Amino acid sequence: MEATFWAPGRVNLIGEHTDYSGGLVLPVAIHLGIGLTAQPADRIALVSEGERVHVAADGSGETDGWGRYPAAVAQELAALGRPAVGVEGVIQADLPRGAGLGSSGALEVVVALALCAVADFELEPLELALACQRAERRAVGVPSGILDQAASLLGRKGSALLLDCGTLEHRWIELPERLAILVVDSGERHAHEGSGYGDRRRELEAGDPRRVRHVQTENERVRAAVEALERQDVQTLGSIFAASHASLRDDYEVSTPTLDRLVEAALDAGALGARLTGGGFGGSIVALAGRDDADAVLQRILERAGTQGWVVRSADGAIQRRGRPEPPS
Ligand code: GLA
Repeated sequence: MEATFWAPGRVNLIGEHTDYSGGLVLPVAIHLGIGLTAQPADRIALVSEGERVHVAADGSGETDGWGRYPAAVAQELAALGRPAVGVEGVIQADLPRGAGLGSSGALEVVVALALCAVADFELEPLELALACQRAERRAVGVPSGILDQAASLLGRKGSALLLDCGTLEHRWIELPERLAILVVDSGERHAHEGSGYGDRRRELEAGDPRRVRHVQTENERVRAAVEALERQDVQTLGSIFAASHASLRDDYEVSTPTLDRLVEAALDAGALGARLTGGGFGGSIVALAGRDDADAVLQRILERAGTQGWVVRSADGAIQRRGRPEPPS
């Protein structure tokens, strides 16, 4: 049996650095993702861009680099009772790594799907997301929340996912037809291992007033953004984005001068709103534009700044597909 699995990256519309304190997030799964064409084997043997990884079917064994992710996923699934069936396959991604678009979450999810399929082992999407979140911590020690893995598994084409990370209650919010979502990669690379991510989490838990204020106001902004989306009020959404970016820059201090300039460039180029998306310390911004002038706005932003950018299409969450390895269009 050879099968193809695919897991999307995500762009978080709003609700940044709120997941690990049980707050609200509003991500959209996107058309950029990670594919894995695989078949059952004795051990886990994966190749991505010529780099090979081998570990035992239960994830044990020495590995480094990106191999830590599949190993950790296998270990988490073994702890949940997955039979030790291995998988051998090829990973192909059009989702850039380290660009703040949930690339490690998508990698964990696609590997988890394949490992579950070859062993005929089933988990609910949220259980799978939680296992992948634990794998992230096990793999690289980053105490991240559940945003990326939940978005990759529960995303729906045409909608954003409103997730309460405390209760895991969720619903889908329809995206207005005439709204386009742009993502622009700053080219500044972050790895949350060794970045301020863990520091911010500790400062929040210690009760630093500015960090707490960001989280409280950001949760309010998620609620306001959902209302604005439901009213199709894109102008209000734009001002909510501006307030979110300012709070991430001034209160949470996870922006960078490059990201700040990129947000300015997006607004100058005619975007209706722009903010950093993902963990910050580099990575990407998300911007809003009208469907009709989205391509032109993106071109203007890329002329001024940014390394690569997309008018992103929303996508369904991770799936198993037989046959062609391309993500759904
Ligand atoms: C990273 C983490 C997520 C989340 C965001 C910030 O993407 O993986 O869990 O905390 O940062 O919103």
